[in-house]
Amino acid sequence: MKKYHVIVFGCQMNISDAERVASVLESAKYTKTDDITKADVIIVTMCSIRQSAVDRIHGLVEKFRKLKTTNHKLQTILTGCVLKKDKKIFIEGFDIVLDIKDIKRIPEILGIKKVKNAENYLDVAPKYENQFSANVPIMTGCNNFCAYCVVPYTREREISRPAKETISEVRNLIRNGYKEIWLLGQNVNSYKDCSTNFSKLLKKINDIPGEFWVRFTSSHPKDFDDDVINAMAEHGHITPYLNLPVQSGDDKVLKSMNRHYTVAEYKNKIKKLREKIPDIAISTDIIVGFPDETKKQFLNTAKLFREVKYDMAYINKYSARAGTAAAKLKDNVSLTEKKNREKILTDILKETALEHNKKFIGKETLVLFNEHRKDSYFGKNEQYKTIKVVSQENLLGKMLKVKIIEARPFILHGKIV
Ligand code: SAH
Ligand code: SF4
Ligand code: F3S
Repeated sequence: MKKYHVIVFGCQMNISDAERVASVLESAKYTKTDDITKADVIIVTMCSIRQSAVDRIHGLVEKFRKLKTTNHKLQTILTGCVLKKDKKIFIEGFDIVLDIKDIKRIPEILGIKKVKNAENYLDVAPKYENQFSANVPIMTGCNNFCAYCVVPYTREREISRPAKETISEVRNLIRNGYKEIWLLGQNVNSYKDCSTNFSKLLKKINDIPGEFWVRFTSSHPKDFDDDVINAMAEHGHITPYLNLPVQSGDDKVLKSMNRHYTVAEYKNKIKKLREKIPDIAISTDIIVGFPDETKKQFLNTAKLFREVKYDMAYINKYSARAGTAAAKLKDNVSLTEKKNREKILTDILKETALEHNKKFIGKETLVLFNEHRKDSYFGKNEQYKTIKVVSQENLLGKMLKVKIIEARPFILHGKIV
């Protein structure tokens, strides 16, 4: 039997796409191997968000070249988020460079069988990697063109998945014992299928019977509205956790990033969220060192960080991406200064995250365990906090009450109740 090996880079969306790729290969009677040297076909789902992510693919090309000296029949496929200009480069290093929307064609490309050209690749039933937490894309693509971002070029325009199809996938997952459902999209807040917008979709999913948590990512502050806040507050299955990427705490920088909101508008949404959902945990994404970001403008971001008191933040050093609007500007903040700004934010984050985490000490919290190292089990609670428990018993996939005994900035230690 022929074997496939998948290498995934990028966000949850790419992980989810890779699960669809795996399912297409299994339907063509391929089996998965974790041993790359045993593979007949290797598929790479690539991320282009930063240049460093693209550089990793160059490294892989070298590795494949070596593998091919002993395994002459090895076929390599590149898919995922690939920029047009990189397609031209990687066509040298891979046998096939395939648009993610064409994954149904893989068996045909491998010479196995002919498949009708796909209408929508999202209707491929995925082969879920995890047995209790599932990624469910509700849309793909992006119409926002933030000045720094490649996603609108790699994933093209927004397409929402039919609500019926999405709900039916979630219903099946819950029936099969899945406890955590991630609804995915580059901007889930602009989901639209006829009269079903995102908050209505949340309601419909919340109405499915069962014990499960719903999380979603990513949200865009310009589209994140009161209806979604109310849906989160009113529907018990939607967890009190939100990633709301702010990117910068300075209005001028936000404008040149093409983000379409002000710091005041953003803070107002955070305020409403905390009023309606007092136990909510909030995370954000930040870019430090965007072209022309002055020290003063950066200090506005630091100020926002202190004010909002995030639970978590994904802090990114600006990386110029060819073809984007920002690439026309000079990448004029030095790497040393970007690192310096990153550290300042990380230090504030450690303080605010610890402050939030300390509130859990002595309290009980429900945890879904999803990772295991030696006798330690790691899981997430509703607020998406990482919780560590030492246990002799296998806790994987279980949702259990844990009493928190110790708090650190990015982890809580606890005991099973
Ligand atoms: N759709 C999501 C983000 C996708 S990319 C959203 O709108 O929030 C994930 C994160 O990568 C972004 O939030 C941003 O902080 C970061 N990012 C994107 N392009 C970048 C670039 N050119 N340089 C540095 N970080 C970048
Ligand atoms: Fe990129 Fe902006 Fe779209 Fe997010 S909303 S994927 S940051 S262009
Ligand atoms: Fe990367 Fe594409 Fe996600 S560029 S961050 S894999 S949407």
